[in-house]
Amino acid sequence: MILLLTYLLSGMAIAAAKPLDKRLDNGLGKTPALGWNSWNAGQCNFATAQRALQAADLFISLGLKDLGYTYVNIDDCWSTKSRNSSGYLVPDPQKFPNGIKAVSDQIHAKGLKFGLYGDRGTQTCAGYPGSLNNEEKDAKTLASWEVDYWKYDNCHTTNENSHTEYEKMRDALANSGYKVFYSLCNWGRDNVWTWGGKVGNSWRITDDNFNSWNYVATIAAKGASIAQYGGPGGFNDWDMMQISNGKLSAAEERAHMGLWAIGKSPILLGMDLTKISQSSLAIVKNKGLIDINQDALGKPATTFRPSGAPAPSSKLYPYWAGPLSDGVVVGLVAADNAVTLSVNFTDVPGLGAGTFSWTEMFSGKTGSGTSVSAQLSLHDMAVFRVKKV
Ligand code: GLA
Repeated sequence: MILLLTYLLSGMAIAAAKPLDKRLDNGLGKTPALGWNSWNAGQCNFATAQRALQAADLFISLGLKDLGYTYVNIDDCWSTKSRNSSGYLVPDPQKFPNGIKAVSDQIHAKGLKFGLYGDRGTQTCAGYPGSLNNEEKDAKTLASWEVDYWKYDNCHTTNENSHTEYEKMRDALANSGYKVFYSLCNWGRDNVWTWGGKVGNSWRITDDNFNSWNYVATIAAKGASIAQYGGPGGFNDWDMMQISNGKLSAAEERAHMGLWAIGKSPILLGMDLTKISQSSLAIVKNKGLIDINQDALGKPATTFRPSGAPAPSSKLYPYWAGPLSDGVVVGLVAADNAVTLSVNFTDVPGLGAGTFSWTEMFSGKTGSGTSVSAQLSLHDMAVFRVKKV
């Protein structure tokens, strides 16, 4: 009896230690995802076939596709409020009159990829059916529609410990017969960065990027503190962009793009692309920044403390650096006031004594020497790509 009990208990211990030992080995997300998502642009109103196809056309006509923007993702509110009599998710016939597969086919024909949204609980955040206990069915449905990206949210849950349910969907997706980028959206709960790499291709690190500088700064500060967890196949997701959504100054939009790019976050645009301003378009089309974001090394930049600079706190810190496959990226951000910021390369991790050449990504200015400096207006940013001469 005691032996049996010991046997059963040790079996349970093995079972309890088992989760997290698998990686989602789908070969996707070697570099951060680039694309667009419907949510920030128009919440439920934008979860339509028409908006998805329009975004895909604009990726091409605005030159975004040529720069690597690929995923056209529809967020919450795309389905009917209940499953069909066989328990399957059903696209809202008003929003998707020809179904989902017709849309994903058209988007694939343009050389782009299509994404959808779901939830690990009983309902999505906006009250549409969640996937709890329907993981396999839903994964098969997504595969039949050839959905390339699945964002999996954290509302209406019955279980605070989220990783087991995220794993359940990971396994269902892995067995579905179609390769899908798996984007975990549990808002940084459960220290997701410590296990996200074994479960998904990206994981949200905070609550939503609601539209203000304060959110941008707070998220970036968080990203700096957990930079080491991101790498090829699994990146910290700093949340969708708020560029061209009416609340950020031009300087703040530059810093938003610059920080997300060097922090190796996915860059999922969140504006109505039919209304994007020319200045915002230039920011999201900054090829130098996209190249840094997509660098094959996939190592997120983080903050460093130059000699004489005040110590970092939990707030956004001005000095950033990170390795690239052919050098180092240095970011300087005017976090609190208009300021001239300078760094000596001897203080920068990965650089040191000697002369380096640099290019600044927003101005295109180039130079060489032993330091860089930038005169910045409030919340503006400079990003330098630095190489050994
Ligand atoms: C949550 C997510 C958002 C968005 C909404 C949709 O808040 O964090 O990104 O998907 O749900 O309802």
